[in-house]
Order: sequence, then C-alpha cells, then structure tokens
Amino acid sequence: MTENLKWQITSDSLDASQLLVDETLFHVANGYIGVRGNFEEGYPNHYNTIRGAYINGVYDISEVKHGEKLHGFIDSKQKIINITDVQGIKLYIAGEKFSLFDGKVLNFKRILDMREGIYKRQILWESPKGHIIEINIQRMASFIKPELFVIDYTVRSINYEGEIVFVSTQKGDVFNYFDPTDPRVAGELEKHLTVETIDIQKDIGIITSITNKSHIRVTSAVKHVVSSQHELERIQDDKSSTTKIRLYIKAGQTQRLVKYCIFTDSVRFSDCHQAAIDKMEEVLETPIEQLYQLQKVYLSAFWDKADVVVNGDDRLQQGIHFSLFELLQSVGKDQYSNIAAKGLSGEGYEGHYFWDTEIYMLPFFLLTDKALAENLLNYRYEKLEAARENARILGHKKGALYPWRTISGSECSAYFPSGTAQYHINADIAYMFVQYYFVTGDLDFVESKGAEVLFETARLWMDTGHYVEDSFRIDAVTGPDEYTCIVNNNYYTNCMAKYNLKWAVKFYELLKENNRIEHLAQKLGITEEEVNEWQQAAEKMYLPYDEKLDINPQDDSFLSKAIWDFENTPKDQYPLLLHYHPLYIYRYQVCKQADTVLAHFLLEDEQKLSTIKKSYEYYEKITTHDSSLSTCIFSIVAAKLGEIRKAYDYFMQTTRLDLDNIHHNTKDGIHTANMGGTYMGMVYGFAGLRIKESGIFFNPVIPEQWESYEFKICYQGRMIKIHVNQEQSHYTLLEGKELKIHVYDQEYILNDDIIIKI
Ligand code: BGC
Repeated sequence: MTENLKWQITSDSLDASQLLVDETLFHVANGYIGVRGNFEEGYPNHYNTIRGAYINGVYDISEVKHGEKLHGFIDSKQKIINITDVQGIKLYIAGEKFSLFDGKVLNFKRILDMREGIYKRQILWESPKGHIIEINIQRMASFIKPELFVIDYTVRSINYEGEIVFVSTQKGDVFNYFDPTDPRVAGELEKHLTVETIDIQKDIGIITSITNKSHIRVTSAVKHVVSSQHELERIQDDKSSTTKIRLYIKAGQTQRLVKYCIFTDSVRFSDCHQAAIDKMEEVLETPIEQLYQLQKVYLSAFWDKADVVVNGDDRLQQGIHFSLFELLQSVGKDQYSNIAAKGLSGEGYEGHYFWDTEIYMLPFFLLTDKALAENLLNYRYEKLEAARENARILGHKKGALYPWRTISGSECSAYFPSGTAQYHINADIAYMFVQYYFVTGDLDFVESKGAEVLFETARLWMDTGHYVEDSFRIDAVTGPDEYTCIVNNNYYTNCMAKYNLKWAVKFYELLKENNRIEHLAQKLGITEEEVNEWQQAAEKMYLPYDEKLDINPQDDSFLSKAIWDFENTPKDQYPLLLHYHPLYIYRYQVCKQADTVLAHFLLEDEQKLSTIKKSYEYYEKITTHDSSLSTCIFSIVAAKLGEIRKAYDYFMQTTRLDLDNIHHNTKDGIHTANMGGTYMGMVYGFAGLRIKESGIFFNPVIPEQWESYEFKICYQGRMIKIHVNQEQSHYTLLEGKELKIHVYDQEYILNDDIIIKI
C-alpha cells in the first residue's frame, strides 16, 4: 500500500473544481506531446473544463494590443496552441450513454502510475436501467515513440448481454482556453487552428490543420483497433470525424478498443501528413503490450539514475516522485523545444519558456541526464541570433539579450516592467553554461556554443551598465522579485552579471590557452581590449551592501521604501498581484519571491556567512512567496545556515504544491520550476551540494523527521551515490575513476566508499 502511495497519484473526486485540477495532475506527456486528463465522455454541460492537447514548440502568433504603444513594444507574441482533440470516446450500453454523473458509480478511481508511465481510470458503473459494467481506460504518451498517444478502453460486462457502441471522435475545431481576469493565462478567445484536409487512408483518420499566423501544420492520425468482430461507421464533416463501432458483449466478457493517435508537425517534419501515416504504421508493428513494456523499461532506467529517495515520509516521497516525473514529462527532447513554465499540462503562461529552465529545472537534468541538459542549452544557442535582434530592439548596439518569455526566440512579454526588464535572464543562461562546463568538462561545447553565448551576453552588460567613479553599475532593470520593478543595481542582477563577465573572460582565456579562440574571436570581432573591459567591469561591479544591517539591499532604493502592511492584509488578498495595482505594490518593501536570497544560494562565495544569514532573515519577513519559485530557495538557504526546521518547513510547502493545489491555479498547469526546486531542495539544500570551479562540495544535514535520504549524481564522467541518515553521510563511487570531493570543507579522495559522521 505505502509502496503504491510513493509511486502513484490517485483521485476519486467528481467535484467540479477538483476535476479541473485533476485534468492537469493526470495529463500524460513525453516532452513532445501532452494531453490533459479530460474524461473521454466529457462532463455535464455546466461543468468547466480545459480540454486540451499540446505539442512542445508548436505555436501560433497572437496580436498584442497596447493602449499606448511606445517604441520597441512587441506587436505579437507566440502562444502554445490547443491541437486536434482526439480524446473523445462515448460508450453506449443498450442505448444508454455511460457517464459518471448518471446511474450509480459503484467504484471510481484514477491513477497515475509513475513507474509504468500510464494513467488509468477504473470504474464500476450501474446504468440507470441496471446494467453493470466495469470500465478500465489507460492512457500513455510514449517515451519511446514520442508521436504516440494512446487510449486503451476496455469494457467488461457484469450482467449485460447485447450491443455496445463506442463513438470515437477526432475534432479539428478547437480553441485555446482564456480567462480575462487572470494575467497568468491568455485573456482573449482566439481560434488558432484551421482544418486544411480531413481524409482516411489505410483505415487511418487523418486531420491536418494549419495555424493562422505562424503557418505551422499539425497532423493528427487516428486508428481504431477493436478486440472482436464489429461494425464500423464513419461520419465526417469538414472539421471533424466520428467513428461508430458496434459490437456484442456477453456477461463476463471483455471488449477492448485501442485508439492509437499520432501527432506530427511541420516544425519537425517536411511533410507532416505523410509522416503521421508512416509513424502510425511503424507503431502498429509493435504489439501494444510491448509498447507498455518499453515505457516501463524506459522509466525504470530513468528512476534508476534520477530517483531521490526519502525514508520516513511517504506523502513527501510521492511529491518528490511526482516532481521528477513531471520534469521528465515536460522536457523538450529535440532542438525545437525547451521546458514551458507549465510543461505540457495546460495553457498557463501560454506555453512560454522562461529563466525557470536554467535556474530551476536544468540542474536536475545536468546531474542525471547530460544529453537532455545539453539539448536545453543547445536551444538557447540556436536562439542567440534572435537574442541579438532583441537587444537591438531594446537599443543596445552590441550583444544579445535573451527574451524574458518565448517559444521561438523573440520576446513575448507584453508587460515590460516585470518582463523584458528582467535582464538577469542573460546571466542565468550564462551561469548554466558554466555549470555545464564544471559538470562535464566539455571544452568542445565551450568552443562551439558556450563561449559565444557568454561573450554576447557579456557585451550586453557592457552596453547596459556604466561607471560611476570607480564602480560599474547597472540601472533600470528588474530582478527576480516581480513586486519591485525597474530599479538601479539590483543585487541579484549585478552579482550574476559579474559572474557572467568573469566567466566570459575565463572562457576566452581557456580557449586561447588551447589555441581554440581564433575562429570565434574573428567571427565576433572580439579583441583583447574588449576582454580586458569585461574583466575590469567584473572586478568593479557594484554590489549594494548595507553596513548597519549587514545585508545586501535588493537594490539602491529598496531599503528606503515603506514596509508592506502585512498585519492588515487579509489572507484572501494573496497573491497580491491579483488584488493590487502593480504600481501600488512597487512602492513597498514586499517580495513576491526569493531575489537576494537566490543570489546567496547561486553565488554564496560573494558574501560572508553573517551577511547571508542577516539577509535571509530580513527578506524572509517581507517575502510573500506568491511565486512558486520561492519556497524552495528559502529552504536551500535555510539548510545552508543550519536552520533545519525552517528548511524542512519550506521544503514541505514546495514538494506538494500541485498535488495539494496550494496556489489554487493548478488547473492551468503544473508549476514546473517548483518541481525543479523540489529536486534542488533535496540535493543542494539538505545534501548541500555545490559545484564550483574548485570542485564538488557536500554539506549534508537531515531533518529529524526522516530516517534517511539517498540519490545519485553524474559528475565529470562519474556516478556517485549519496546516502544520508541521522548518524552519517555515505558516498559511493558507482562508476568512473577516483575523484576529489569536499565534505564539510574537508578534502577526501573517493575511490570506493567514504563514510562521514554527520
Ligand atoms: C515568476 C517568474 C517566473 C514565471 C513563470 C512568475 O510568477 O515571478 O519568476 O519566471 O512565473 O514561472
């Protein structure tokens, strides 16, 4: 039972609002396609639903209207689109339509099994006329065949004999979800897809549609495989097709319909229509049971490398498993895609990629699956040209500025104060290129991609900042905290920009030493003089510090603002962004999320411990955690400071955020960054992992509530297992040559096992 709890997510709710949340929690995805967990037969008409399926990297373009349009404001933005709806299957027994809202539900359970990679719905139902049937429906988005989504529908009759009818639909007439009252989802109803062709070839129903403005084609192909003799009838109009399947069932007998659905798109395939037919034929060559088996094998390899085990709290373990599983479901596995803020589970944030990828999600892949991490960085490299164009729009003569939110590379943020102004995204991306280098030692990658990204982002800082007397300052940017906008010398930004500049210089020197700089220097027109300027700006970077408080002020004006009146702010006024005008919020010392505290985690060597402690205590009092990117960081820094109880409390708020719908908007999709934060909370927080130029460091602590925890990481060609219990931490070299590790700042050579008292 407890084993099941750790590996499965379950629900038996038919409550209207929980059904919306469950659509997200039970979505199935594989990094390419994602399908929400809608009921095949639908809900009663008055119930709300966000019925959707998405392809990573497939988008349309929406117009952005500004009341007052100033120079450089964006005119349009990309938006993930809801693709052809293949989810529909209605079941009729003696003319009665199956619905969980009619007749008697004798048993009902939905289960997401994270070891099988399958979502199941199990039902025992008595129709109004007394016919009893058992229904089992399984869904899978295949990790092995990324274009495949399958619905496997079985019906077992308990007391009925006669005809049953499946009515299966493939609908091209689809819309995106919108809510004009919530800035975190699209505000207007828009139709993005138009059906171009609808036909049948080799018993496969095919719909090809095209997006209105981006002119991307999407094909869905559907094939029904039925367990026994049946009659099949197709009805088709110019947008949709319906397949009626009639068959006979006896009491005790089981009938089965397998609906194979293939999705392809013109971003990846030159002829997506033909590709869908080819992929379908390929998939049909493998028996379905074998496809399930392959899914299990894929996941068993994933869990073997990536699992983080906590002994002593099964609900927490479930939250951790869910987070890691969702990261895998969400991550783009080709050069056209990245990780959307909501993965492929919903339309919140319109399918955009943010800094969330580098700072919150990439660490997980970097330490468990180098190829996926490299792919995410490749995506940024591919978008460098678009980032250069973006920099020009913002008035910069040199360098590249990555957009705050995007799919295809251009800026999609319509509200620049808490969007485009977050220049720190440049340094966040640079930071991860450097971390990738530390973990892999891959100089080829530095030469072919990393250095160019670091040089171009360094140039942007030179063009944004300026010297005041002897210090380099950066004005009019926004840090991670979106409740404080357009400020001078945001500590986080300056600190990260400093690192960006410093590492641009280091990458230059590294390539120079290895005689590998010439080509790139020529291509970009980089001179030694320019590199010296980067070096100087890094050395002279101004980092705000308040001597009296011994903290780093978030920015130049932060400490002189009034403190938000927390005492008189009712609970229902959070998140503040939904209840107060932004300008009102900007006037106060109030943080939506970790900002300076995040800098204290990423670049801990910039300050002395006492400053980090005081800063942490200061910002803790004024942070609302209205963003889901916050509690994990407070947990990590609390663990660093030895505040284990606090670290534990913040961590517990992090790990089950979507499972318990803590932010009340899980219906719009999972909070993927927070899931990366869950991983980081364990690995960087409790185990105290840091990866630096000087090596690999651990500082393990363990909350008293747990017996032990354990995980593996890949580092410089090695695989290391870390096990921590109440007495000791235990390091095992599973693969690779011996290496130097640091535990509580002591150096050890790990060539087999090391055990250290906690
Ligand atoms: C946060 C951002 C984040 C975005 C997408 C916002 O609420 O403030 O930091 O990038 O959500 O997850």
